[in-house]
Amino acid sequence: MRIVLLGAPGSGKGTQAGLLKSRLNVPHISTGEILRAAVAAGTPLGIVAKSVMEAGALVSDDIVLGMLEERFGQADVQRGFILDGYPRNLIQAQALEQLLAKLNLPVDKALQLDVSEDLLLARLAGRAKAEGRADDNPQSVGNRLHVYQQQTAPVIDYYQGMGALVRVPGEGTVEVILERIISALG
Ligand code: AP5
Repeated sequence: MRIVLLGAPGSGKGTQAGLLKSRLNVPHISTGEILRAAVAAGTPLGIVAKSVMEAGALVSDDIVLGMLEERFGQADVQRGFILDGYPRNLIQAQALEQLLAKLNLPVDKALQLDVSEDLLLARLAGRAKAEGRADDNPQSVGNRLHVYQQQTAPVIDYYQGMGALVRVPGEGTVEVILERIISALG
């Protein structure tokens, strides 16, 4: 199964993708994780991305698409995939559609996790305390939510227009949400 996981920062995309990948036996591809690994390794890409990510802005479309093309060159994606963190704007949505058409791997479902803003803020504040992720401070979180509303939320309509959108309430325990996702995927 080929899934795009959508949702605001803190909606649980990474958490649910981590569990779903074992259930579906497909790789989890997170653009945020690929970028954080590049920052940690100090690669040229990581050096460019670091300050942009810390500010809670989007890394340039060209850079992220290049990264994604490289990842989709690996054989495991033939089994399917859970794509988390991409697309984040309409340009990326169109670029993804073209890339996947070329590979003959079109998206089956785009799954949107719906979570209230109060709960998003509480989850991200909790992670800031527990893990200290560089972009979980209040200012970066504010920017990430703003970017999400302005640029990423329109992607939901894009997939609805394609007839691929499924919405799942993302509040509750991790296990309950996972079961909701599995049923929604059918
Ligand atoms: P990215 O890594 O994609 O971050 P994000 O979208 O802001 O999402 P998060 O990781 O914060 O949240 P999530 O929805 O995955 O929730 P999670 O499961 O972690 O992107 C980071 C940055 O990279 C971007 O800001 C941008 O700069 C750059 N970037 C990435 N992709 C890009 C792209 N395509 N184009 C350009 N730039 C890009 O959960 C959050 C917390 O809540 C965790 O602590 C978790 O334990 C907890 N939690 C989860 N579910 C539950 C639950 N049910 N109950 C209680 N707690 C829960």
